[in-house]
Amino acid sequence: MKFSHLEGIESFALVGATGLVGQELLDLLCEHKIKFSKIKLLASQNSVGERVDFAGEDLIIEELSANSFDGVEVAFFCVPNEVTEKFVPIAISKGCLVIDDSSVFRQKSDVALIVPEVNGEILKDFSGKIISIPNCTTTPLVMALKPLAEQYGIERVVVSTYQSVSGAGRKAFEELSNQTTAMLSGKEAESSAFPHRIAFNCLPEIGQITESGNTSEEEKVVNETRKILDLPDLKISSTAVRVPTFIGHGLSVNVELQRDFSSIEEVRELWESFPGIKVIDNAAHHIYPTNVECSGSDFTFIGRARRDGSVNFGLNFWVITDNLRKGAALNALQCLDTLNKYRRMS
Ligand SMILES: NC(=O)c1ccc[n+]([C@@H]2O[C@H](COP(=O)([O-])OP(=O)(O)OC[C@H]3O[C@@H](n4cnc5c(N)ncnc54)[C@H](OP(=O)(O)O)[C@@H]3O)[C@@H](O)[C@H]2O)c1
Repeated sequence: MKFSHLEGIESFALVGATGLVGQELLDLLCEHKIKFSKIKLLASQNSVGERVDFAGEDLIIEELSANSFDGVEVAFFCVPNEVTEKFVPIAISKGCLVIDDSSVFRQKSDVALIVPEVNGEILKDFSGKIISIPNCTTTPLVMALKPLAEQYGIERVVVSTYQSVSGAGRKAFEELSNQTTAMLSGKEAESSAFPHRIAFNCLPEIGQITESGNTSEEEKVVNETRKILDLPDLKISSTAVRVPTFIGHGLSVNVELQRDFSSIEEVRELWESFPGIKVIDNAAHHIYPTNVECSGSDFTFIGRARRDGSVNFGLNFWVITDNLRKGAALNALQCLDTLNKYRRMS
């Protein structure tokens, strides 16, 4: 992954700099040697004064406040929804462009919900103030579906997710670690981030249960996929499961296409030619992508592709990506890079 259009941004604020997504974003900036003249790292009162090493520079965490956005050009928000709701309007009133990782604005009609490889062209004519990035399972799903939708058309999608604990933030990450250590030492495992023990367990509940009986996470995947693919009537059903892994969200996907494919090899080639996708698929030799391959990688990996003979033009496959990278921080940075590319072209 290369970022070629981030130079010239003078002032940048990272809201939620101590969280898992915020830290990943800082890692990416260091990795790609991206520098801004002025960078503000913001978090809650609890973190004020903490020092962060940023490319050899000692930066100090400041408390997020109404004055945090004075003179700031771009603000990345990686904080819980309620904090986003309160502070994004303030940032906008100070003239900031906001790139937001939360779910607060994703479905608003004047907000761009972007995965650059899939619908980045929307940013050509973008004059809004907020770019939202999707849920960390929607992103790999739309990456895998986009080339299929263009080539064959999509009739229906059924997706089940296997989501790591980092998707629920730092406390959840630490809870799996602490519970695993406790249980292997013969001690009681305490739960607070999840409703049940997550160590050596899987929980078929992510987010809040809604009136429909789905969870909010499942509804996000459905609604966001429709918006990003611009298929408002797409038939799509989702089940979200939290699993005891640290990094990487996997998805088992079943798709009914509108037109047939001639071979699985043809589908693999289609994915391979799509930017950001890597196919690892030779199941007979135990070759497929897992959490191990995807952790720390920018790619969306696909494997286990096979025909589903139970329906017309059916396809089953497995997708997995690093939820903190392509599922969050990397996608957010790509959005800014893509927007700047178009703005400089016009
Ligand atoms: N994790 C993922 O895979 C993922 C993927 C896509 C989107 N997202 C979204 O990204 C956002 C951040 O997720 P995360 O996983 O990084 O969470 P996290 O690890 O729990 O970090 C939360 C961050 O928010 C800050 N924060 C909390 N309350 C605050 C307040 N009142 N004022 C200022 N800052 C406050 C925390 O600061 P302190 O350390 O000072 O408390 C911390 O920096 C969430 O909206 C999440 O839904 C996450």
